[in-house]
Amino acid sequence: MVRFKRRDTAEDVSAGVDLTGRNALVTGANTGIGRETARVLALRGARVTLACRDANKARAARGAILNGAGGAINADQLDLLELDLNSLAATRGAAEHFCALGRPLHLLINNAGIMIPVERRTQDGFEAHLGINHLAHFLFTHLLLDALRAAGGARVVAVSSGAMAAATLTAELADLNWERRKYSGLRAYGDSKLMNLMFAREFTRRYQAEGIVSNALHPGVVPTELARDQSWPFMLLGILMLPRVKSLGQGASASVLLATHPDYAGRGGLYIVNNREKRPAHKLALNDGACAALWERSERLTGLQGATPDIRMD
Ligand SMILES: NC(=O)c1ccc[n+]([C@@H]2O[C@H](COP(=O)([O-])OP(=O)(O)OC[C@H]3O[C@@H](n4cnc5c(N)ncnc54)[C@H](OP(=O)(O)O)[C@@H]3O)[C@@H](O)[C@H]2O)c1
Repeated sequence: MVRFKRRDTAEDVSAGVDLTGRNALVTGANTGIGRETARVLALRGARVTLACRDANKARAARGAILNGAGGAINADQLDLLELDLNSLAATRGAAEHFCALGRPLHLLINNAGIMIPVERRTQDGFEAHLGINHLAHFLFTHLLLDALRAAGGARVVAVSSGAMAAATLTAELADLNWERRKYSGLRAYGDSKLMNLMFAREFTRRYQAEGIVSNALHPGVVPTELARDQSWPFMLLGILMLPRVKSLGQGASASVLLATHPDYAGRGGLYIVNNREKRPAHKLALNDGACAALWERSERLTGLQGATPDIRMD
């Protein structure tokens, strides 16, 4: 039984773990929680692909991780992959690039995310939280399935958020793409983070028998660049949260715990907060019918089922 505390760091929860010979991929690894997750996975011996949208930022992050490691991480343990989740075509291209390496993938950390207050659309016309936080990761994971299968036991970690409590997603998945609902950045973010958890549950139901599972987590409140586009009132709220704020190491702990701890090797569909299993903050996360429906809708929206992505399907 896993017994870690909320203040334990990614290094604490992975102490003694040896990831030599394992391949990991972290999306959004150039900064924040993703970069710390990548650093600690590499520190434990994994070969880590930093999948980032900005090649310069990715190179800088790689350099900073290596410089800070004092020789504990080798340069050949850190690879870069260009991944722009704002576009399904670019996401597809990144997955194809990785698969062409012929490398098994033991650990996939779907970490990248946005949280913006104003409505924005992705290149394919999706509401940006839906498109980047959920749909592009959904597509990316599907396209990496053969690499995950080749690992002979793999884990997919979904970085969700307690903000799922603000979700207005319905079991019928009505207006998934925010065409009729009055727009709220927080609610759209909450919807997408709820979808991350629903993805982990349905993914596990479908692939557990093949040895691939997915779990989700809330990292806590961590001072990163996530709120970069938020307004001053939101920032003030952040200041009020200061006593609860976690360090980057603490914020990355749940991702690293789920990726590395033996207790999570074959178990999936779980939700971790403060390094403990917790009941999700939204009832849809436990609704198997809704999780399956979201899966099928996502397949159509990303073009995995049907000839072309259909963004109007409701
Ligand atoms: N920080 C918190 O308090 C908190 C709380 C709950 C959940 N989370 C979740 O934690 C995860 C990591 O967030 P963070 O706090 O570390 O935020 P962050 O510092 O803003 O990092 C987000 C990462 O996602 C990347 N990203 C954004 N849009 C992308 C796109 N279109 N394609 C590829 N990568 C993209 C960013 O790349 P660029 O640098 O190029 O923009 C960055 O690497 C997110 O999923 C977030 O929802 C965070």
